[in-house]
Amino acid sequence: MSVLPSSLTLGSLTVDTPVVLAPMAGITNAAYRRLCAEQGAGLYVCEMITSRGLVERDETTRNMLVFDELETVRSVQLYGTDPVYVGKATEILCAEYGVAHIDLNFGCPVPKVTRKGGGGALPWKRGLLAEILAAAVAAAAPYDVPVTMKTRKGLDDDHLTYLDAGRIAQEAGCAAIALHGRTVAQAYSGQADWEAIAALVDHVDIPVLGNGDIWEAADAIRMVQQTGAAGVVVGRGCLGRPWLFRDLAAAFAGEEVATLPTLGEVRDVMRRHAELLCQHMGEERGCKEFRKHVSWYLKGFAAGGTLRRSLALVETLAGLEVLLAELDPDEPFPVLELGTPRGRQGSPRNRVVLPEGWLDDTDGRGSHQQEDATEVTGG
Ligand SMILES: Cc1cc2nc3c(=O)[nH]c(=O)nc-3n(C[C@H](O)[C@H](O)[C@H](O)COP(=O)(O)O)c2cc1C
Repeated sequence: MSVLPSSLTLGSLTVDTPVVLAPMAGITNAAYRRLCAEQGAGLYVCEMITSRGLVERDETTRNMLVFDELETVRSVQLYGTDPVYVGKATEILCAEYGVAHIDLNFGCPVPKVTRKGGGGALPWKRGLLAEILAAAVAAAAPYDVPVTMKTRKGLDDDHLTYLDAGRIAQEAGCAAIALHGRTVAQAYSGQADWEAIAALVDHVDIPVLGNGDIWEAADAIRMVQQTGAAGVVVGRGCLGRPWLFRDLAAAFAGEEVATLPTLGEVRDVMRRHAELLCQHMGEERGCKEFRKHVSWYLKGFAAGGTLRRSLALVETLAGLEVLLAELDPDEPFPVLELGTPRGRQGSPRNRVVLPEGWLDDTDGRGSHQQEDATEVTGG
């Protein structure tokens, strides 16, 4: 068995556990990052923000760039298709927001995004990718802030891009590359291909972070051992289970811990999550944001449909408290849920939506794509 990495180094930044909370739009806000960080060490990435939104001082974008007072390592994912905007946005993040890490999104599979050549579509244009990465690295360098990129295997099985992307990221001076072992066409369906992660590790000298289908701490260890990845990026596995980060930290420290909270303990985490959301967003919005997490927290527990529905409509913290009191605190954790997928899965796409003629040229240098200021769907 190979030796496990005990920490993660991204340029000037060292993280005590080689675990990264995957950026997830609408999920990994300041409250959720704090909730996860309370469980264990790792790097907790802010949900994606758009370069153009930041450069143009768009209000929605600015509202997303909120950090918890205890968040000493600020990590942000940027979306962008234009090197000029990405460079300027990087500069703003470093100079005005004091970030310690910037990740660039080249993996989003949402048609609205790929239609404009963004997200997972962009790495097809190798030259443009190189320009964007170079712009971000150059803007971050004076601040000694590491830049990483996150991508997928490619558009589909016939149009793979990840090995080229790895080489380009390395040449551009990126501190690491994260690979989600699916194509854009797969979206979240099927199984993540960890062999592709291993192939990328062989292909580049910079650290590779493996992503896809880590549901338990043991999966993370298996991924690292099978692929040689320098660390893991965990997304859906921690939905409704922030304590997964405790298990992950323990696992990389060589201990086997599987946290199995009773429903009473889950209830405490739910309350804490809602309180943090309300602290950061105000009670009305915080409660609304909390609603989407209810079914993940209660997955596999016996809580009845009426109670679940009421929780998913909660409006105030006081109302939440009344409903939480109805949960049976002694109900044990539903162990059958362990190791099973959660969050979005969906089905593969027949066709990846791309700009007209996108596949005809693999360079794209100088061809700046139209970039929305308020794109908030990640992926
Ligand atoms: C709700 C949701 C939102 C996401 N938003 C983003 C995003 O903004 N940026 C990004 O790079 N990936 C995003 N992703 C993809 C995840 O970061 C991750 O790559 C993917 O879920 C695979 O990892 P997992 O199997 O651990 O979930 C999102 C995923 C989900 C489920």
